[in-house]
Order: sequence, then C-alpha cells, then structure tokens
Amino acid sequence: MRVVEGHGFGKLILVGEHAVVYGHPALAFGVDRGTTLRVAGAEGPTQLHMPGPRAPAPDPRLRALMSEHFGDTGAHLTLTTDLPIGRGMGSSASLAVALARAHLAWNSRPADPDALWSHAMATERRFHGNPSGVDVACALHGGVLRFVRGAPPTFTSLACPAWQVVVLDSGVAGPTAELVERVRRQRPRIDLLLERVGELVGEAEEALHDPPALGRLLDENHAILRQIGVSSPTLDDLVGLARGAGAWGAKLSGAGGGGVVIALAEDPAPILQAAQAARVPAFVVRPQPGGPP
Ligand code: PMV
Repeated sequence: MRVVEGHGFGKLILVGEHAVVYGHPALAFGVDRGTTLRVAGAEGPTQLHMPGPRAPAPDPRLRALMSEHFGDTGAHLTLTTDLPIGRGMGSSASLAVALARAHLAWNSRPADPDALWSHAMATERRFHGNPSGVDVACALHGGVLRFVRGAPPTFTSLACPAWQVVVLDSGVAGPTAELVERVRRQRPRIDLLLERVGELVGEAEEALHDPPALGRLLDENHAILRQIGVSSPTLDDLVGLARGAGAWGAKLSGAGGGGVVIALAEDPAPILQAAQAARVPAFVVRPQPGGPP
C-alpha cells in the first residue's frame, strides 16, 4: 500500500500583528504543534478521517479540497492536528502546507520551495481571502521569522531561542477580517502607534535571546493593541492572570477579539495552575526549529 505524509507547523505572532498589514515587519514563529495529512492508497471511494475525541466533522470546503487533490476514488486521507482551530495559531495555514507537501509527494514531485509556497498560499486564500502570508511562511519553515508583507513577501530566519511560551485560550474565535477593518478605519490617526509596533519588532529581534527584556516588549505591544481596540476584557484578564503568576510579559497573539494570549515565563507551572483554577485551557509551546520535523 502506498502511503505519503505532509506536515505543516502552527504559528504564533510574537510582535507585530495588524501593523504588518501596513508594511511594518512582524516577528512570528512556527510552534512544535501542527497538522499532518496522511494519504494511503486504497480501493473504493476516497474517504477523509479526522480522528480524535473532539475532532469536528470535516466541513464541506475541506471535503471539496481533498477530492480536487486526490480524486474521488483510490485514497484514504487522515487529517490530524493538535492546534486549537480558529484561535490565531495558524491552523488553516498548517493544513494548507500539509496538503501541499502530501499532494506533491503523492504525485512523486519534489518538494520545491516555490511550488510549496504557491500551492499553500492558494489554499490559504480559499479560507482567508487576503492573508499576509506570515502564517504560511511559519507553517512551511518553522523557526523564528522576521516577516515583511509584499509581492513577494520577505522573511528572514532568526536563530531559534531556547524559551517557551504559555498559551492561554480565550475559548472564542477572533473575527480577523472585522478587526483588520476596525484598525483600517482608524488610520491615519493611529499610524504613529503602528510605527511604534514596527520599532518594537526591531527591539524584539535584539532581545530574542533575553526573555525578560522580550517580555517587556510583549507588554508594550499588548498596550498598543488595546489602544487600537483589538483586545477584549477576556484577553486583558488573561494577560493579567499570566503577569500575576510571574510572566516576564504577555500579550494577545493574532488578530485579537478572541483567540489566544501568549506569556513568556521562566517557569510556566504557576501560570498553568492559575489558568486551571480559572478554567482556562492553557498549554506550553516552543519555537519549532526550522525544517520539517
Ligand atoms: O488571527 P491571525 O493569526 O490570522 O492573525 C492575523 C494577523 C493580522 O496581522 C491581524 C492580519 C494579517 O493578515 O497579518
């Protein structure tokens, strides 16, 4: 039986969401979680399985995508992910990259970086309209990336740091398109704040291996995200919870409104305990060193 697999990493934005839409850099990283698509040759109709106790039923867009790529007969597809869906952790981009890798392998084509990029971006556009590309870059390459939007975008891999982050899940999806629009409507009044976020990215690059200093920059980035109206009382509470439990710094990550908060801390245990006491799902992730696992 023929079997191929493709994997894409999840991602978190460390500094720079929203400002990245207007050409400022962002600092983001691929995480040690992601999505894997396994394709096994089989008799009969093509089937899609999503195992796991809380796996949702595959949505019709996903089924259509799979039959376009693997036909209506001859393949058993198994899609697994350990990312929360719709929380700003790049679940759709990791799926897009897993699909691109599996599809090239299924057709015995080399995993050429340009082919992977354009294939994965085409899938990501079907889910997200006009993505900046930062999620796909992280899903493909892992590691920590300095990303600047453009046609084509530019991204630089930075040396992978040793720290870990605690992720606190607000339990609700962030309405990305609505929040991007809310920010757009406030321009040019908020342009200086967006510029300051761009500067914070430069400072965060310098402080990448100095987590206490990096934590202070996350705090400042969160304060700006509050000022531009993309945080929420829940996200602010989660940031407060993490800081109260000893974090060096914390911020919302992604578009905001919902999604996740990330916290940098020497010891994640008190934050995880505080989260558990408050019934907030929380877990630890590390930057995934570049390259496929
Ligand atoms: O919620 P996410 O992770 O998809 O983040 C969106 C990040 C924005 O900067 C708000 C938009 C973008 O396309 O970069």
